[in-house]
Amino acid sequence: MSLRRFGRITAALAATTLTVGALGACSAERAGGDTQDDGDDSTMVGIAMPTRSLERWNNDGAHLEELLQDAGYETSLQYADNKTEQQITQLQNMINEGADILVVASIDGTTLGPVLQTAAENDVTVIAYDRLINETENVDYYATFDNELVGTLQGEFIVEELGLDEGEEGPFTLEPFAGSPDDNNARFFFKGAWDVLSPYVESGVLEVPSGKAPASVDEWTSIGIQGWESADAQSEMENRLNSFYEGDEKVDVVLSPNDSLALGIEQALEGAGYEPGEDWPIITGQDADEANTKNILADKQSMTVWKDTRTLGDQVATMIDQIVAGEEVEVNDTETYDNGVKVVPSFLLEPQVVTKDDVEEVLVGSGFYEASDLGL
Ligand code: BGC
Repeated sequence: MSLRRFGRITAALAATTLTVGALGACSAERAGGDTQDDGDDSTMVGIAMPTRSLERWNNDGAHLEELLQDAGYETSLQYADNKTEQQITQLQNMINEGADILVVASIDGTTLGPVLQTAAENDVTVIAYDRLINETENVDYYATFDNELVGTLQGEFIVEELGLDEGEEGPFTLEPFAGSPDDNNARFFFKGAWDVLSPYVESGVLEVPSGKAPASVDEWTSIGIQGWESADAQSEMENRLNSFYEGDEKVDVVLSPNDSLALGIEQALEGAGYEPGEDWPIITGQDADEANTKNILADKQSMTVWKDTRTLGDQVATMIDQIVAGEEVEVNDTETYDNGVKVVPSFLLEPQVVTKDDVEEVLVGSGFYEASDLGL
């Protein structure tokens, strides 16, 4: 079902594949011809990543940096320890050092307006990486995975595993979680999943003993975990289990938007005496982090939505080449990502469900992991 839906989306996107010349000749010339006063002829790309504490951002940064350096670009890769002020300072420094292009995976997508105004005044082209940058006109392109589809895949996985689409009536107990309230992606993930699951919550097939079921998608931040912290997800899950599950009452399903939350939730379950293969609930995730992939193999996590971050880096490198060459930049979505000031031309990539059955074929087969990384 999920794949069918994605098939329709890709077909629709393919039919409307667009190119956007929004950069304008001026910035293109600047990037390629280096009219900015940074002392040499190479194009300088600043890469701002949110934190080293999550595996994926280390992979994202290293891959993009390597691709760009191999292609002859000068790069400056910075991590901001999940601190917005630090990221703003890093961006300001990159502009001061003569960056021609900024690639930004924002921490809080609403706080970068002033520094990106400075970027615009210096004719710097800005690409939002993975997370949209909001409330500013000074973001030129957005490259990401289809964020809502990530959530849809998680919701549909739960429906299929429980057999709800075949009339199973449960009731099953569910505990939903959402991502960091300051991350623009987190709402999309929750919306995708909640659109699939909320009809079953309303009909009583899915029960939420903790009561932490947002009344609508717009209230998703009420169950958000700030900074996507594993430890906070763990204590939230511990609280829910201690306060709302009595006697032999068990949680059947946990909707976790990503792997860092899933990891904390899995630790809470372990601490509460749940056993894989016995009473362990269905748990979703996203990113295929190494620890979570091992947990999938150990029956402690049911699935992850894998976003091959190498393809995201490849796409951004292609965008940069097109910008520098003064060509039109290829995008495939000009409707979905309204940042409050404008709809940002976007390139959306395809996420993919991975379960225990396909870890080896998909994650090892694609070279994302070595078999030995996973103890296979
Ligand atoms: C990314 C996810 C990631 C999360 C936490 C989101 O913006 O899209 O892949 O798990 O941030 O870093």
